Amino acid sequence: MNTLTIVDNRTGKKYELPIQDGTIRAMDLRQIKATQDDFGLMTYDPAFMNTANCKSAITYIDGDKGILLYRGYPIEKLAEESDYLETAYLIVFGELPNSAQLKTWTHEITSHTMLHESTKKFIEGFQYDAHPMGIFLSTVGALSTFYPDAKQIFDESGRLRQIHRLIAKVPTIAAYAFRRGIGWPYVYPDNDLSFTANFLNMMFRMTEVRFHANPVLTRALDVLFILHADHEQNCSTAAMRAIGSSHVDPYSALAGAAAALYGPLHGGANEAVLRMLNEIGSIDKVPDFIKRVKSGEGHNRLMGFGHRVYKSYDPRAKVIKRIADNVFDVTGKNPLLEIALELERIALQDDYFVTRKLYPNVDFYSGLIYQAMGLPVEMFPVLFAIPRTAGWVAQWQEMLLDPEQKIARPRQIYTGPAPREYVPLDKRS
Ligand code: ACO
Repeated sequence: MNTLTIVDNRTGKKYELPIQDGTIRAMDLRQIKATQDDFGLMTYDPAFMNTANCKSAITYIDGDKGILLYRGYPIEKLAEESDYLETAYLIVFGELPNSAQLKTWTHEITSHTMLHESTKKFIEGFQYDAHPMGIFLSTVGALSTFYPDAKQIFDESGRLRQIHRLIAKVPTIAAYAFRRGIGWPYVYPDNDLSFTANFLNMMFRMTEVRFHANPVLTRALDVLFILHADHEQNCSTAAMRAIGSSHVDPYSALAGAAAALYGPLHGGANEAVLRMLNEIGSIDKVPDFIKRVKSGEGHNRLMGFGHRVYKSYDPRAKVIKRIADNVFDVTGKNPLLEIALELERIALQDDYFVTRKLYPNVDFYSGLIYQAMGLPVEMFPVLFAIPRTAGWVAQWQEMLLDPEQKIARPRQIYTGPAPREYVPLDKRS
């Protein structure tokens, strides 16, 4: 019998609640009241540790077994066989494209990569040393002012147009943010190139007529983009859904999602990993660093380790470790790799990490690869945001089309003072 029987010991009343998909509906608890005028029972779940906020058909994670599927396809298979644009199509539409669909999709994305010229002026307004992620998220938000049609979120073709624009324009914004910081002239998108080759072209082309990105690096970036494309209800995706639930345009919602990704506990972690590895400096300092992490001294955490959902090795980290060798064959080894490998070796044997099920996550090795490819540390969260845009827009659209969804509005337990008399300024002690 798929029900849950609850006895309220305050009243002796018994309730039977249906269980579906391993959950009870929180609203079913509302009928449980201690008195007639009682509001009804709520659940208290800070940080949503055990609350499903939606039904989603996009991404499946089994955190104990280390399984990650996009629309049913294992991440390892997609990383082996697909490219990022094909994966983005899968995430947005639910099926892998046939060749005609892929052609149209690629054409649509490619023909939306340009930015309005005013965007450049907007980017110029930032301080010379502005963090590229700050530029990125502000510029994405500013796109809403260029596309007022984006407010028509229930118009299917309009929504698709914004999805094309967003996926297409984020690499251009990212590259402009990067070049703004070093004072290089902006490079316009090249529609003859693949998604990742075009991005590398916009990042690194100088005076040459055509920049030829190394195909090994282009493919590695493509795989990294596939691995980062979606990850169900993480902090930034939850932000995208919550902001989008107010029916704001997707550019404004995505700016908020990118802001959530910026934090060091989320997409800022790969940047934090590199800073941590630099701070450790050499292999012989690793044991001492681990000791400090365990003692909680200075609020140190082993960045790139641990995950809210994965309680085993992050499957994305496994794929990244494999492609790292191909990248390092081309670029030469990143000197920080040895420190990272030693950290992992010691941590995976240490009781503190073993008992808490703390394993390397996607960010532990991705930064080393990005750095070896010549991408600066400040760009790491931006490099995460580019592919995650596919996940954000797919989750946003799924939320909008879900008849059960409403504006996101959590409850609270009030802990402030009871009603009291207002004290005029001259009477306050
Ligand atoms: N180093 C040291 N100890 C850790 C770490 C870590 N990286 N992560 C968790 N712990 C410890 C906590 O101190 C806690 O110990 P306690 O039970 O003795 O208090 C226990 O493990 C559980 O940790 P929580 O913080 O409760 O786990 P939570 O699920 O809230 O956090 C998170 C997950 C934020 C990812 C955390 O593991 C962390 O801060 N990791 C480092 C940052 C990082 O790599 N983030 C990237 C995540 S992947 C992504 O966003 C793409």
